[in-house]
Amino acid sequence: MAKTIRKYLIAGNWKMNKTASEGVDLVNEIKLGIGQKMDVGVAICPPYTALESCAKAVEDSNIQLGAQNMHPKLEGAYTGEVSPVMLRSMFCTFVIIGHSERREYFKESDAFINEKVLAALESSLKPILCVGESLEQREANATFEVVKTQLVDGLKGVTAEATDHLVVAYEPVWAIGTGKTATPEMAQDVHKMIRDELTALFGEAADKVRILYGGSMKPENASELLNQPDIDGGLIGGAALKAKSFLELIEIAHSK
Ligand code: PGA
Repeated sequence: MAKTIRKYLIAGNWKMNKTASEGVDLVNEIKLGIGQKMDVGVAICPPYTALESCAKAVEDSNIQLGAQNMHPKLEGAYTGEVSPVMLRSMFCTFVIIGHSERREYFKESDAFINEKVLAALESSLKPILCVGESLEQREANATFEVVKTQLVDGLKGVTAEATDHLVVAYEPVWAIGTGKTATPEMAQDVHKMIRDELTALFGEAADKVRILYGGSMKPENASELLNQPDIDGGLIGGAALKAKSFLELIEIAHSK
């Protein structure tokens, strides 16, 4: 089902897991279990090396493909990088941008992330812009300020018309891969703040933007999270690597 005008999105972030053939095996298992749940958006974001094989595997399904990162330039001398044009040629619909692991390990700044968001939109890719505070920042009561800065700086230059193609993911860094989840109320507070900021930026177009929660989301805690008025789906790491848990998450969204 959907939340009034927003359809749930369950997106798997495989991170640096799965070879090309392992990816196909996982997609095939997901396809077998998914049935005709057209009311829930489903996406998988494999590593670059599995995009081509997974693109073929998802062809006859309602599973959409995304990448985990990209360079903002369309082509050129950027050794080791992958461009939006290349992702489009692999039939990607989404691209995760500004994941906290990229911010932390690869020192990506809000300005660079903003370039990527704009480049993704210009190339007809849907950016999933990730924002979220560290444990230190939460303990210092800086959550709203940190998330707001990441959001506003990441979205500079984005127009209200482009928001149809925009997804935001709130991922508290302390909850990623740790088994610690934000309580539904903690998550909703931040999601509401994000919605308010989006409204300040884009007016009523903000109502259409899906805001995903990410950080140890799993079948055991998904239902309560998805019940929150401003949580429109999940960006799933660990639980997306097994068909069983990923399918359970889709089923929970479907049952709402
Ligand atoms: P997790 O990862 O579900 O393993 O916590 C989520 C993410 O980093 O996108």
